[in-house]
Amino acid sequence: MNYKHITVEAVTPAIGADIFGVDISQPLSAEVVAEIRAAYLEHLVVFFHDQTLTPAQLVTFSKRFGGIGYYPFVAGMPEQPEVVAVVKKEDEKINFGGLWHTDTSYLERPPMGSVLYAVEVPKIGGDTLWNNMYMAYEALSPTLQKMLEGLRGINSAEKPDAAVTRTHRMAEAPKDAAAIVTTASHPIVRTHPETGRKALYCAAAHTMHIEGMTVEESRPLLQYLYSVQQREEFGCRLHWKRGMVAFWDNRCAQHNALNDYHGYRREMHRVTLEGEVPV
Ligand code: SIN
Repeated sequence: MNYKHITVEAVTPAIGADIFGVDISQPLSAEVVAEIRAAYLEHLVVFFHDQTLTPAQLVTFSKRFGGIGYYPFVAGMPEQPEVVAVVKKEDEKINFGGLWHTDTSYLERPPMGSVLYAVEVPKIGGDTLWNNMYMAYEALSPTLQKMLEGLRGINSAEKPDAAVTRTHRMAEAPKDAAAIVTTASHPIVRTHPETGRKALYCAAAHTMHIEGMTVEESRPLLQYLYSVQQREEFGCRLHWKRGMVAFWDNRCAQHNALNDYHGYRREMHRVTLEGEVPV
């Protein structure tokens, strides 16, 4: 891609790119939006630096890439309900999103992307990892790839390791999700609707078992797939600074917020973007 309006620099060969030369708090031309989208599709997660965004500006930027998604468990900010504050306080030991996942894969239509803005970062630690799920799929043998075609994962919000990461925020900003279905069957291998590439779409945080198989029967295969998904050479790591923004593609990337900063406060503002039923 020949970028004319922004500068794009890959951060690892696998995933992630820094975007320079754009102030995303300002109205963006269609050409700039198209180039950001191209970089996002090529690199799966893109990073902006030194931004200053009100919650309303974060929403305006996000809406240039799609409709705003729905998060069932934590209420949005009172002044800007589309934005969820992702906070870990000085006295808390549990962080939000602190395990490998793709956002809300337990919904029938999981979000296509998420935008995260760093409002307050810990003095040390608090990095986020992203991994490339196309590469995870492509690393499998053709025989295993063929075996996975047609298999579906049952994804649930109730998996205990993931459910616990929401507890503090749910207590602070409760939302009544009783009517929302938070279990969904999705293909283990999904085809990205824009790039046409195949990506592994099960996740340690939310996939309970393979449809038609018991938890025990599914475990060895799923554990193997998670181990491939989490390989270091498929990833990148962001050390956050205040004012950074990450915009990632949930259809082909997974992320993990590291919980290595007890005693420090971290606050991020998050918007998710509507997605489609995975196929
Ligand atoms: C999330 O999983 O959406 C939060 C990621 C982070 O806080 O780094």
